[in-house]
Amino acid sequence: MHKRLAFVALTAVAAPVMAAPPADGAKLYTEKTCNACHGPAGNKALMPDYPKIAGQNAKYIERQMLDIKSGARANGNSAAMKGVMHLVSDEEIKVLADYIAKLKP
Ligand code: HEC
Repeated sequence: MHKRLAFVALTAVAAPVMAAPPADGAKLYTEKTCNACHGPAGNKALMPDYPKIAGQNAKYIERQMLDIKSGARANGNSAAMKGVMHLVSDEEIKVLADYIAKLKP
């Protein structure tokens, strides 16, 4: 437990210095089941009318996720996505957006 906390603290300090993607973006992506609908690498959608998201602008997808979560974006397919958005905090959405933006389209 202490080891883990120390690791988290270390990552928090080191993150702004290193250019590498946030350590837990990949973990969140599978933990929160994003991979099921958007593909393990974000570039292969489950359904033809689901979006590929890999490599998309971080700011744009962060906004879209916040809007889907709040209900401000409610297109035909948003409901499928909204169902999982209660699992992610706004902070996690930011981490996910940064992670997804760095994936290869
Ligand atoms: C049950 C299937 C499903 C799951 C699980 C899911 N999504 Fe989605 N997602 C969708 C669908 C469908 C859309 C398109 C919604 C629409 O048409 O408005 C979408 C839209 C998005 C968008 C906006 C794309 C754009 O170009 O505007 C992003 C970003 C996104 N999802 C990321 C995620 C992340 C990150 C997770 C995990 C926390 C996740 N999704 C989980 C189905 C899902």
